[in-house]
Amino acid sequence: MEFRGCSVFAAFLIRTLVLLLLTAFSVYAEIPSTLDGPFQPVTVPFDVSLRGNAVDLPATDSRVRRRVKGFEPEQISVSLSASYDSVWISWITGAFQIGYNITPLDPTSVASVVRYGKLRFPLNHEAKGYSLVYNQLYPFEGLQNYTSGIIHHVRLAGLKPDTKYYYRCGDPSIEALSGIYSFKTMPVSGPSSYPSRIAVMGDLGLTFNTTTTISNVIRNKPELVLLVGDVTYANLYLTNGTGSDCYSCSFSETPIHETYQPRWDYWGRFMQYLVSKVPVMVVEGNHEIEPQAGNQTFVAYSSRFAFPSEESGSSSTFYYSFNAGGIHFIMLGAYIVITNQVKNETWALWTWHRNQDSDGKIGDQIYIVRQPDKCPKQSTRTKCWFADI
Ligand SMILES: *[C@@H]1O[C@H](CO)[C@@H](O)[C@H](O)[C@H]1NC(C)=O
Ligand SMILES: *[C@@H]1O[C@H](CO)[C@@H](O)[C@H](O)[C@H]1NC(C)=O
Ligand SMILES: *[C@@H]1O[C@H](CO)[C@@H](O)[C@H](O)[C@H]1NC(C)=O
Ligand SMILES: *[C@@H]1O[C@H](CO)[C@@H](O)[C@H](O)[C@H]1NC(C)=O
Ligand SMILES: *[C@@H]1O[C@H](CO)[C@@H](O)[C@H](O)[C@H]1NC(C)=O
Repeated sequence: MEFRGCSVFAAFLIRTLVLLLLTAFSVYAEIPSTLDGPFQPVTVPFDVSLRGNAVDLPATDSRVRRRVKGFEPEQISVSLSASYDSVWISWITGAFQIGYNITPLDPTSVASVVRYGKLRFPLNHEAKGYSLVYNQLYPFEGLQNYTSGIIHHVRLAGLKPDTKYYYRCGDPSIEALSGIYSFKTMPVSGPSSYPSRIAVMGDLGLTFNTTTTISNVIRNKPELVLLVGDVTYANLYLTNGTGSDCYSCSFSETPIHETYQPRWDYWGRFMQYLVSKVPVMVVEGNHEIEPQAGNQTFVAYSSRFAFPSEESGSSSTFYYSFNAGGIHFIMLGAYIVITNQVKNETWALWTWHRNQDSDGKIGDQIYIVRQPDKCPKQSTRTKCWFADI
């Protein structure tokens, strides 16, 4: 995507705060819990020499290869619904296809079932959800089209606060259930009730340095992960799987800003270890725009993750809110302005936002805002890696 001053600034800030904060703490001490505070925040300046030197995990890396067979679930993740008593479980079944002759899978051919309970055995509750596939299509000669595996989203309800639940997901009728995973619900909402550690990350990608960041996150045992945009960087690749640190320098001739959607699947496989256990909440960044045929944008982002949009009164995947103990998180992604996702979006967003105030009794409100104002497009473009952050 083009250079946008404040998104770059946001990305820069996030990377400074998060990546290096984690690195710093991993050297000297574990990250203190909010329950230990108040304490002085620690920030570490960003070392600009690190930019543009990250190496992506290749498709052959064992951490990103498909390990399941047939319609067994993979890329399993947990995310929160609007309050502690409900979570979403998401996963993918079936193989993606990329090429010149693709036939989308039938999403109704595999059921979306989660069995769960407070004990490993028996898992005495069952919930059903919905499934979809998405396509990333390019109406240009030489570019390959992509169609995803079947994406499943199931909402569990009636959960107890601060409680560990075990679960399996999949389709029991074709004997394609996952192994047993577990997650812990958020504490009850109230002014003295908080999750002890929340990891905030942005600009994650899927580089060898990403693996270091995720190891640091896992070692610090967060109860919640917030991902504030720029997820997989699949848009630094052509549809033939060739990538570059600087898309616009290397591929200035392509008719559209291409992507290589399998990077999303690699990312989902790599992240499963963390996010099948710790809920992850995502808001979009410029790398998720991914324009395609029919002027569609943000299709992978909006399809792959579950968002508590409906539960929090939003009609969009770009803004939603949820409670994590005594925190009311308001996730605001600014890219709604460039999509047709919501008609009359200013009115919708304003109404929604005003309603958040009536939800604000529980304790703190924390806004996670991605690209807070619409940036002018005319750029002070300096170096190309800057545009590809
Ligand atoms: C990809 O899909 C687009 C939109 O349907 C179509 O125009 C194009 O021919 C397809 N490309 C290939 C290589 O199948
Ligand atoms: C990032 O990963 C590369 C290997 O790809 C390594 O050489 C480098 O030291 C890492 N950088 C940091 C800051 O960990
Ligand atoms: C992908 O396409 C680019 C641009 O046409 C080309 O330079 C590169 O060699 C291709 N890669 C493969 C693996 O075919
Ligand atoms: C896509 O957007 C362009 C420019 O905004 C517009 O001219 C065109 O009609 C749109 N195409 C579709 C299929 O909506
Ligand atoms: C947006 O929707 C509201 C409520 O339906 C309506 O009052 C307002 O006139 C609409 N604005 C536009 C520009 O359509």
